Amino acid sequence: MKEAILKIKDLKKYYGKDESQVKALDGISFDIYKGEMLVLLGNSGCGKSTLLNIIGGMDSPTSGQVLFSDTDITHFKDRELTNFRKEKIGFIFQFYNLLPDLTALENVRLSIPGKDKEHKAEKTLELVGLGKDRYNHYPSQMSGGEQQRVSIARALVKEADIILCDEPTGALDDKTGRTILQLLQDIVREKGQTMVIVTHTTQIAEMADRVITLKNGQIVKERINEHPLNASDIEW
Ligand SMILES: Nc1ncnc2c1ncn2[C@@H]1O[C@H](COP(=O)(O)OP(=O)(O)O)[C@@H](O)[C@H]1O
Ligand SMILES: [Mg+2]
Repeated sequence: MKEAILKIKDLKKYYGKDESQVKALDGISFDIYKGEMLVLLGNSGCGKSTLLNIIGGMDSPTSGQVLFSDTDITHFKDRELTNFRKEKIGFIFQFYNLLPDLTALENVRLSIPGKDKEHKAEKTLELVGLGKDRYNHYPSQMSGGEQQRVSIARALVKEADIILCDEPTGALDDKTGRTILQLLQDIVREKGQTMVIVTHTTQIAEMADRVITLKNGQIVKERINEHPLNASDIEW
């Protein structure tokens, strides 16, 4: 039996009013299963980022529910939402969103509470393929692929239940992109974490366990990949 970690129910997000109204999400319902790699696929403007931001507690819907352990996060107060984001969600963005004035190590350390931060941050940077020589580099001193590795380390070090990735390879060349996707895929398989990747690149969907296609704020297709490809074997 597949266990749902998140249940999304009839989610709507409307911007503006009357004739200028945009229905960014227009009644979206689906479950996200524990340990799966799910790809949300769709053209630019179909509502992918809006959906991911609501799932991750960074934005609120016009109506509908996002249930985590049967609690509706869309009704959380600010404080509860902040805790949900901190504890349960790791976010990976297209443009990395690292703090420019902090080093690689500091960027990763910042996202974990408590003791033993230094050690955990170093171990996680190592896990994503960044050695000691990179710890003290600032984002501006690193390539796109290296910055994305730091941002992956930042998401992983929290040991969050769910990793959400918004076009994680959108700013990278194909080869670097594949390396980054392979890293993400290996992590899901090894750690059993749940990962949602948003992309407009059809080929990337081949690495997913399941693919949900969006169009104009609605789900138009869902399929299961019986044999997901290794990310390193995908060409685009
Ligand atoms: N803050 C906003 N105000 C008005 N319209 C918005 C806003 N954010 C997104 N939209 C619109 O909602 C739709 C979905 O956007 P988005 O979720 O960013 O799509 P995607 O990530 O798939 O490219 C688009 O038509 C976009 O222009
Ligand atoms: Mg987007």
